[in-house]
Amino acid sequence: HTARFTLDPAFTVSAVDPRLFGSFVEHLGRCVYTGIYEPGHPTADEAGLRGDVLDLIRELGVTALRYPGGNFVSGYKWEDGVGPKDERPRRLDLAWRSTESNRFGLSEFVDFVRKVGGEPMLAINLGTRGVAEAIELQEYANHPGGTELSERRIAHGDKDPFGIKLWCLGNEMDGPWQTGHKTAEEYGRLAAETARAMRQIDPGVELVACGSSSQSMATFAAWEATVLEHSYELVDHISLHAYYYEQNGDRDSFLASAVDTESFIENVVATADHVGARLKSKKKINLSFDEWNVWYQDGSAPTLSGEARGDDWAEAPRLLEDNYSVTDAVVFGTLLIALLRHADRVKVACLAQLVNVIAPIATEPGGTAWRQTTFFPFAQASAHGRGTVLDVRVAGPRHHTERFGEVDLLHATAVRDEETGAVTVFAVNRDRARSLPLEVTLHGLGLTEVAEHSVLSDADPDARNTAAEPERVTPHAAEGTALADGVLTATLEPLSWNVIRLA
Ligand code: AHR
Repeated sequence: HTARFTLDPAFTVSAVDPRLFGSFVEHLGRCVYTGIYEPGHPTADEAGLRGDVLDLIRELGVTALRYPGGNFVSGYKWEDGVGPKDERPRRLDLAWRSTESNRFGLSEFVDFVRKVGGEPMLAINLGTRGVAEAIELQEYANHPGGTELSERRIAHGDKDPFGIKLWCLGNEMDGPWQTGHKTAEEYGRLAAETARAMRQIDPGVELVACGSSSQSMATFAAWEATVLEHSYELVDHISLHAYYYEQNGDRDSFLASAVDTESFIENVVATADHVGARLKSKKKINLSFDEWNVWYQDGSAPTLSGEARGDDWAEAPRLLEDNYSVTDAVVFGTLLIALLRHADRVKVACLAQLVNVIAPIATEPGGTAWRQTTFFPFAQASAHGRGTVLDVRVAGPRHHTERFGEVDLLHATAVRDEETGAVTVFAVNRDRARSLPLEVTLHGLGLTEVAEHSVLSDADPDARNTAAEPERVTPHAAEGTALADGVLTATLEPLSWNVIRLA
């Protein structure tokens, strides 16, 4: 019944791009307003950013920050969000049937990103807009000065260019729900021409073309192939989006969600490489998994406030405020493991989203901010998942799931810090009822001790953190984990996320 694997520094997957630990800030519900931005909040700074939330974001360890959407971006005019706040227009946000005040825009976002030590990843509107608006935004944001648009930025108070390198060419353009939805042909051409124009300003920009909104889209794979046929030499990444939730009470399939994540990644790699082969290109397209999370899209999850969801053109309504359980956090951990296991091709990933909206951080307007259960796996992976991913081949017990057939009970990866030589094992036991003995043989790593074995699990798999009980769920230390004669032994609690740090 023991799960086993071997670690050897000679067998690696890839270096981890730090941008694997990105997140996403959309103008949606209370992600921006009363999430990160709330002038008048007791902890707000001079820019109106909530200090309590900034502290939690730094603790979370996010890198790339995608903005401003999401579905929102496909109807957005970036010009609405710059300049004197009192002159900014109020607009209908078609994506979320909300009213957008534009009190927060590009300059506020860049200030926010700098304060949390992140890197901006800016999405442009290719739904209702096109090439002209994309290059105008790029000029406003990045050109040093001496032109109308760059001088406009300077007049707005931002003397230094923003230096935005990473750009998303639209959002989910394959989805019929997207404002300005397009066919693969239409979008592929538009993405290619937008990319070409943006490179005329700056050949060094890094560009993400829209892939599929999920692997289950009817157009999946054909979409990627067509889009890349048009844009292969002009873009750097193709995007993937995936959300998972428990359906029909089938918890074992939910716990195996990462099987879908991994096959999705592998299928996109195969599709991109096929196009590259046909084009006789030496270039490889990388993957930007720029939306991933647990999200109860049927609205069946408890919400942060318990209040009804209003979406009738309200300002900053409570939308998508899923309150995550221990089970959700364990699934979330397997999604992180899946990304790390494919770090050779996944170079950017964004947890969707950052605050309140399907988020690891929750806030009350005028009140407190706290960590959801999913906060912990992310923070630990970001803190200890930097370095080189070692090749992990699990041999161990499996069980049957309705959606995915036979699935390993252990899902695991390991990352080696090249500076210190320390290795961190990230491991999930998918078995809801039984502990799982783990045995890891260590070759040539020079490791002598277990520095930490942290576990997220609970007698109640539905336990959650709430405003009333913000620390109901936190990681605890495991007992009995040992390293002797080059073999790590541990017992993984039922339904648990584990971080084992070896030094
Ligand atoms: O993250 C929530 C939404 O999910 C985004 O706006 C959209 O891109 C996706 O469908």
